[in-house]
This record gives sequence, structure tokens and C-alpha cells, in this order.
Amino acid sequence: MKERHGFSGKLGYVLATAGSAVGLGNIWRFPYLAAKYGGGAFLLVYLILAMTFGYTMIMAETAIGRMTQKSPVSAFASLTQNKLIRAGGWLNAIIPILIVPYYSVIGGWVCRYLYGYIIGQSQIMADEATFSEFLGSPITMELCFMVFTAMTMLIIFGGVQNGIEKVSKILMPVLALLAVAVVIFSVTRPGALEGVKYFLIPNFKNLSVMTVVSALGQMFYSLSIAMGILITFGSYTKKDVDIESTTIQVEIFDTVIAVLAGLMVIPAVFAFSGGDSAALNKGPALMFVTLPKVFDSMGGTWIGILFFTLVLLAALTSSVSLAETACSTFEDELGWSRSKSAALVSVIMIVLGTFSCLGFNVWAGFTPLNMDILSFFDFLTNSVMMPISAAAICILILKATGIKAIEDEICISSKFRRRKVFRFVLRYLSIALLAVILISSIADAFGLIKI
Ligand code: TRP
Repeated sequence: MKERHGFSGKLGYVLATAGSAVGLGNIWRFPYLAAKYGGGAFLLVYLILAMTFGYTMIMAETAIGRMTQKSPVSAFASLTQNKLIRAGGWLNAIIPILIVPYYSVIGGWVCRYLYGYIIGQSQIMADEATFSEFLGSPITMELCFMVFTAMTMLIIFGGVQNGIEKVSKILMPVLALLAVAVVIFSVTRPGALEGVKYFLIPNFKNLSVMTVVSALGQMFYSLSIAMGILITFGSYTKKDVDIESTTIQVEIFDTVIAVLAGLMVIPAVFAFSGGDSAALNKGPALMFVTLPKVFDSMGGTWIGILFFTLVLLAALTSSVSLAETACSTFEDELGWSRSKSAALVSVIMIVLGTFSCLGFNVWAGFTPLNMDILSFFDFLTNSVMMPISAAAICILILKATGIKAIEDEICISSKFRRRKVFRFVLRYLSIALLAVILISSIADAFGLIKI
């Protein structure tokens, strides 16, 4: 067997995991979902789910990785003979391959905005029409997407595992500080207070089934759960890394950044467009439409450059982890060389990413399940495949290894303080909740129910 490259230690593991977790999910996806699906009610549901379900899944995946010292497909195969459960390992491995292309398209949007600020177009960036014009032009979109993809693949071809560790160390604190600065500015705009209230104070009138469905999907996405990554990272750790405390640190960091992003964007929506539902329902465009307005009123250029540079770097650490997981699956399962695997990942990224780019312009008429192509990939991975793959992990534990084996693995490195939560979620909640999510999100997409 090839020797596994490992993390340097606890700090290295936490930083790499936080680096992969904190990304566009926190800064771009979380605020637009929170704005759309109930503000404070969404936030509350999100926090409860992260502390219970998210916590359990991260612990379980990391422990499986550390126990087997393998990436998802082989980890599943070494723990069970059951073909159906084994397929779950493949599902875990395939999700990152489908996410990274559309993730890079959004990374391309970030590049476009960064470029705009660098050449001093702060005012143009703040104009709503700029974003729709950009989406409407296939060549600019494709170009930006290719720039981001090239950056990701350069790092992958270079094999800079430690690079990510080091970059994350400097980047994450700077990102947090900058976020605080933008939040302070954003919440002090006239009219912004309504937005702070909408985001922080739960109003149960805004609670719907979709609030729970989208909060759960977002939690998995943001913490990179059920996508092979934590099994892979767990397999790189040594037996003395305390899984429980690292899990809690990663969760806190990821959640703090998401909440700060919410506080940057949502009050700004109220300050600049009022709190009407059209503004709140903007979806994927929200970050690119409202934040530039905030920046412009702050005098613009430099803060825009700083902000989008950091978002770009946070997105890059995530896209590299996604592409890395995809590569290591091909390396491990097909026995391919690293460069051959990386070449295949590049091809997949370019083809699928191009589909997502064209979905906004040339193929705008093609709307599977009423979604543009990018949203369709997002839906397919996060609302359909992810609950199944998460359920596969739970079934693997319940039917094949037993909860005890996972607990023993966790106890090698520390006491297991929240063992009761862990057991309860795995035994009684996980599968049922995942089934509800899967069924309701599919029913919603086909328009069978109105939630
Ligand atoms: N968590 C990342 C973010 O918030 C996105 C992501 C989802 C991811 N799944 C992943 C990153 C798997 C790395 C690996 O942006």
C-alpha cells in the first residue's frame, strides 16, 4: 500500500478541515438561503441541526476514516460485504466530482468582481444590471470560470497539500477580521436594523418545511459532510488527534463565518432594497448584487479588492479540497497516477462547468425541474444525493460496524463527552430525518407539494 500522507498534527488537521469547510458555502450560499427561508427561524434551525446532527456526522465520518485509514470507497468496502451499502461509498466519492464544476463557476464570478474592483469599477459593480449582463454573456462567464479552474488545478497538479495547511493558517484569521469590519459597516447603515432583527430574531411565522430542508442541506454543504472529505481527512490523522474537540472547533469556526456573512448581507439588503420579498428571494445572485452596493457606499475600491480576494482564497481552499478528494478517488480505485487522475478531474470540471455557464445564457431555455443548470447541479448533489449518502454512512454504522466500534475509535484519543447526543441522533433521528429531507425536496422540485 502507498504510504498515506498525513497532517502535521492537530492544528494542521483543524486548519485544513476549516479551510475546506469555510468557503462559498458560508459567504455566498448561507446568506441567500437564510434571507429566502425565514431569517431568524432559519438560523435557529441551522444552529440546532449543526450542534446535533452535524456534530454526530462529522464525528462518525472522521472516526471511520481514522479507523480504516482509507478513502470513502475502500473504507466502505473494508467494513461491509453488503453491495448496497458499499454503493454508498461511491456516492460519497461522486458528490465532490459533481460539486466542483459548478463551485468553480461561482469562483469565476468572484474573479470577475475582484477584477472589476482592481480596475477601479466600484460603481459599475454596484449596479444591479452588471450582474445580469455578466450572466448573459457566455464568453466572459466561461473565461472567468476557466481562470478559477486553472488556479484550482495548478494547486492540485503541484500537489501542495501543505500549502493549503499554511495558507489556511494566515487566511482564516484575516477573513474573520475583515468580516467583522464589513459587518460593522453593514449593520450601521440606515434601515439596516430591520435586517439584523429579521436575521437574528426567529419569527415562527416564517418557519416552513422548506426552512428545515434547506437548513439541513446547507449544514451538510457548509461543513462538507457526506461528501467523502471527512473520511479522507480522518484517514490522514494520527490516533492521538482528539476528534471531539477538533470537531467542535471546526464547527464553531464555520458557523461564526456563516453568521458574519449573514450579518454582512441581510442588513444590507434591508438598507439598500428594503425588506421586500423580491429582494430577499434573489437567491444565488444575492451576494453579488447587495455587497457591492455596501462597498460602493463605503468608498469602494480597496474594500472590494480586499473582500473579494479573501472570498477567492476561501473558495480556492475549498475547491482544491473538492478536486483533491475527486483525484484521490481515481488514484485509489482505478490505480491511476496522480497526473492522470488530475487530468480527468480537469476534463470533468471543464465540461460540466461549461454546462452551468451556458445555462444562464445560450441554454437559458433548458430548465430541468424549472431550474437553471447550475441550480440543478446544486439541487442534485445537496438535496438528492447528499441525504442518501449520509444515510449510507449511518446504515454502515448501524448495520455493519456497530455504534460501539465508532465510539471506541473516538475514545482512543479522548473522553467522549457528548456520547448521548451521538447515540441518540444515530439510532433514532438520522435515517428518519434524512428520509424526510429527501422526499420533501424531491416532491417540492417536481411541484407535487407546496412547502
Ligand atoms: N464546505 C464548502 C463551503 O462551504 C463547500 C463544500 C461542500 C466542500 N462539499 C465539500 C468543500 C467537500 C470541500 C469538500 O464552501
